Amino acid sequence: MTGIRLEHITKRFKTETAVDDVSVEIADGEFVVILGASGSGKSTLLRIIAGLEVQTDGHVYIGDMLVDDYEPRDRNIAMVFQSYALYPHLSAYDNIAFGLRVRRVPREDDPEKLRRRTREEIDQKVRAAAELLGITETLRKRPAELSGGQRQRVALARAIVRDPEAFLLDEPLSNLDAKIRSSARIELRRLHQQLKQTFVFVTHDQSEAMTLSDRLAVLNHGRLLQCDTPERILSHPANQYVASFVGSPEMVFLEGAVQATAGGSTFVHGPVRVPVRGAGKAGPVTLGVRPWDIHVQRTPAEGLLSARVTGIERLGSSDQLFLNILPGPTAAPGAGAGTGAAPAPVAVRALVRAYDFNVGDSVFVTADPDRALFFSADGTLLESMSLSSRLP
Ligand SMILES: Nc1ncnc2c1ncn2[C@@H]1O[C@H](COP(=O)(O)OP(=O)(O)O)[C@@H](O)[C@H]1O
Ligand SMILES: [Mg+2]
Repeated sequence: MTGIRLEHITKRFKTETAVDDVSVEIADGEFVVILGASGSGKSTLLRIIAGLEVQTDGHVYIGDMLVDDYEPRDRNIAMVFQSYALYPHLSAYDNIAFGLRVRRVPREDDPEKLRRRTREEIDQKVRAAAELLGITETLRKRPAELSGGQRQRVALARAIVRDPEAFLLDEPLSNLDAKIRSSARIELRRLHQQLKQTFVFVTHDQSEAMTLSDRLAVLNHGRLLQCDTPERILSHPANQYVASFVGSPEMVFLEGAVQATAGGSTFVHGPVRVPVRGAGKAGPVTLGVRPWDIHVQRTPAEGLLSARVTGIERLGSSDQLFLNILPGPTAAPGAGAGTGAAPAPVAVRALVRAYDFNVGDSVFVTADPDRALFFSADGTLLESMSLSSRLP
């Protein structure tokens, strides 16, 4: 068991920087997910840890060892690829055993004794790993005779038998169909709990990242934007990119401005006028609210904004409502002042129980004041700014 430390890792290819000054410390036994859009540098970073790619700058430590000059085989790390890279002509058993057979074995006087011993050791390891992953029944089959989920487990078993210091997994679940995928996530998490080893897992799928990770590292254009627990990433995204990339349905953003008012500061965006706390000087800011923190009801109440349902996305157990907030009686007077015309309706989205509302419904909405976030004009989270729970 070993942690991994990356210090200022940069990787430049001819025309572009694939990984840009990434520093992160992964604790012994931690499950860290690297999340980013396609092309954000995830695979390159993983390959640098494995030693399959050499960084342009920076250092990789595995445990306390600086491994920059170590060959991949000397880093004692197992990598599982999206393609699984199984040998098609070998049985599942032989695929799993392959890495053990080609490994150097200790010197021994009697070659026959050695052969017997290593064969028994290998068999023991292969069967233990197959047992752990529930593929004992399929060990005789070739990859072509296995389902996607079974192939993925063979690839995992092949990594496990090597007894590595850490596991690196590059989108290993993305070839599975949706149903197996969610059970594969749960199994992988269980496997991690049993092995208690360090896992670094790459994906572009934010819900996969949320389910699996102890900590989540968000990459964009090779830069590490944030590395934190899924809970913190959701509640305190470092910036607007992280806020929009993580969480589904996506966060609602309202670009507006802070105005100084008699009682303090007010965030203004069309008919939306809400008092805020901790605002610095007046200026442009963006309000961000998760769709599940926007509450919708049919009856008016003080402080609620009136809105109309313009569309519904059925998500199964819940509906995402597309709403237009209207300049209504509950909106504060002075909304849209200075434009001369009525302000355009503001589009927001809310997550509600399935089939509670219909398109065209007249509703009243509010946001959970403790959960709304503010971002500066450059997209950075304004930690000290929040919605005042005081109603307008
Ligand atoms: N061997 C290479 N030569 C040149 N450019 C590369 C090479 N490998 C990756 N890249 C570039 O680096 C960027 C990051 O790639 P990659 O790490 O594969 O991203 P991800 O795994 O997040 O999709 C991409 O723009 C890709 O085109
Ligand atoms: Mg990749």
